[in-house]
Amino acid sequence: MKDSGVDGRIIELFRSGDGVVSGAALSRLLGVSRTAVWKHVKGLRAAGYLIEAVPSKGYRLLSSPKLLTQLDLSSGLATRRVGSRIVCLKETESTNQVAFKMAEEGAVEGTVVIADAQSAGKGRLGRVWLSPAGVNLYCSVVLRPSIAPMAACQLTFLSVVAVARAIESCTSLKPQIKWPNDILINGRKVAGLLNEMNAETEKVNFVVLGIGVNLNLRMSSIAESLLRHPATSLIEEGGEEVDRVAFTRRLLTELDELYDVFLQEGEGPVRAEWLERSAIRGRSVKVSQGEREFTGEVQGVDSFGALLVRLSDGSVETVLSGDVALV
Ligand code: BTN
Repeated sequence: MKDSGVDGRIIELFRSGDGVVSGAALSRLLGVSRTAVWKHVKGLRAAGYLIEAVPSKGYRLLSSPKLLTQLDLSSGLATRRVGSRIVCLKETESTNQVAFKMAEEGAVEGTVVIADAQSAGKGRLGRVWLSPAGVNLYCSVVLRPSIAPMAACQLTFLSVVAVARAIESCTSLKPQIKWPNDILINGRKVAGLLNEMNAETEKVNFVVLGIGVNLNLRMSSIAESLLRHPATSLIEEGGEEVDRVAFTRRLLTELDELYDVFLQEGEGPVRAEWLERSAIRGRSVKVSQGEREFTGEVQGVDSFGALLVRLSDGSVETVLSGDVALV
């Protein structure tokens, strides 16, 4: 459990209770005076939490600030590594860029950087990731596994599966995985992942897992010309607004669990789940690698995350990068 101080524990108690929590109970459970409780409530209100004082009963949390906050995300978060430190920003160029810099400066494993908006969100292959404010999740996680650089791409399995699980847990939607790291719903892209690494010849220093999920974005608010792939969001597909705090907490928890499995048992179990959820296993695909294009049937992925495509002459091509589309 993360230590997010008295403020975090107050939020946690509000969340776990079913309504009003008395000042006396807060004081007892937190081990601080009633005056201190009142001061913390005042501070939380100043930070944007709407806390009602119910006469002679106590306090009730009506709403959290619109922006994701470190307190909301970390209070009571039961993770081992992911979320060991959480930094929430109003706007930045790219959370991957911030997390990378923090990691270079020694940020602890599990550090998470989240922004409400990105002015230069990075997508794969040098593309831009649209990152408007107030609606989606833009998050980057620093991991420091003791693995060889070649194995680092295996970590993509983790973030893809974690996002798929979080979507299933917070909505009634059925996400599909498309190699290498897209998540689709009804054939449209809802999330994208971008891992960046700092390594020496023999060992990885750190990896930044960048995760972007379209949660409450209304597609009509985005000019068609800005969308490279058919894109969608959870609200468009499910018809209901997604609680950004709940979704992010779920995602960090799933990621933590999968990372633990990865460290204990290697990439096998996570890759197996990736394959099970994959939208392209056994399907015919067209692979585009710059000028080069070919079609074939997807056999699976190897332990380094490369796509295995059987060509018409029976040979199997190992695809390390490129765009893949169902034929
Ligand atoms: C893709 O092109 O599919 C990958 C998109 C990755 C976007 C996320 S949003 C959070 C993190 N910060 C970035 O600048 N990019 C990643």
